[in-house]
Amino acid sequence: MQEKLEKIKKDFELQMQKVSDVLSLESLEQKFFSRKNGEFTDLMKGLKDLSDEKRKEAGLLLNTLKGELENLLHNKKSELENAQMGDLFQKESIDVTQPYLGNLQKGHLHPSTLIQYQLEDLFASMGFMVWDGPELESDYYNFTALNVPPDHPARDMQDTFYVKGHSDWVMRTQTSSFQVRAMQKFGVPLKLIVPGRVFRNESTDPRHEHTFYQLEGIVVGKDVSFADMKGVLETVAKGLYGEETQMRLRPKFYPFVEPGVNGEITCSLCKGKGCRVCKYTGWMEIFGAGMVHPNVLKEAGVDSNEYQGFAFGFGLSRLVMLKYGIEDVRHLQSGDLRFLSQF
Ligand code: PHE
Repeated sequence: MQEKLEKIKKDFELQMQKVSDVLSLESLEQKFFSRKNGEFTDLMKGLKDLSDEKRKEAGLLLNTLKGELENLLHNKKSELENAQMGDLFQKESIDVTQPYLGNLQKGHLHPSTLIQYQLEDLFASMGFMVWDGPELESDYYNFTALNVPPDHPARDMQDTFYVKGHSDWVMRTQTSSFQVRAMQKFGVPLKLIVPGRVFRNESTDPRHEHTFYQLEGIVVGKDVSFADMKGVLETVAKGLYGEETQMRLRPKFYPFVEPGVNGEITCSLCKGKGCRVCKYTGWMEIFGAGMVHPNVLKEAGVDSNEYQGFAFGFGLSRLVMLKYGIEDVRHLQSGDLRFLSQF
């Protein structure tokens, strides 16, 4: 055994001397340590044919050798990687004599980002935190924690992308998925917004897209009222579309709020007179909102006898379309320069 080990070690060292790049280092590693037919692995496998006593002894020797060889591999790897970086730095140079290339056209922010930043500033001025939540979300936070248990018919309101082979994960269908996370993370009282992308398995048309933006908000405190909610939402509507904008709330069912409303503002394009975009009603739906359901507070570990609050979700993409008079939501994601360069 001892002899075999000596030989392997010598072989290994010899071949190591010839290694000059990361790839050949990897094949050397494979040659000795591959699970299938590595020379070293084979020796390890041979252990089982030895008597108890011999196996113990040989095992010890093998392990020591393994450690040594792995060390060599590791050192060589860092050596090669460092050399590679050094090469890169040496090759890189800055030509200080190169003439100024003039006013190259720079990129600019996407209209969705513009509106998002504008809203973040507005909410921050009212004392809201701005946070970010995961797009790949558990079924629990996207639905169950929001008072929508499995098999609840309300799940059909949002066509969902489930993750293949992991049916308890979804691409979040709504930024509301951050409501319970937010209360668990920050506790109450709480004032927070979460802008971000959401995903729905929709056939796309001028008003529907599989990927779009929402902006969620949640406020929880001891004496937060429906009137507070109305005040905040009205401030936002006027902040975005001007002082003359009017807002109306109408009852709507969302499982995670009670009472729930759907919020509309006077169409910013025709100023309420009626046009194609608002389907001649003069009103545009821009958010869902309501008082946070006691079951949702409970799920987040908040005592619903002591605390209450409101939540709202703006269709951020909708806001962008209204603000700039964009007639087709699919432009937003198209990456088409003819569209983008207009902003
Ligand atoms: N998440 C809801 C939607 O996507 C909107 C909403 C948010 C409604 C918060 C009520 C409260 O349709």
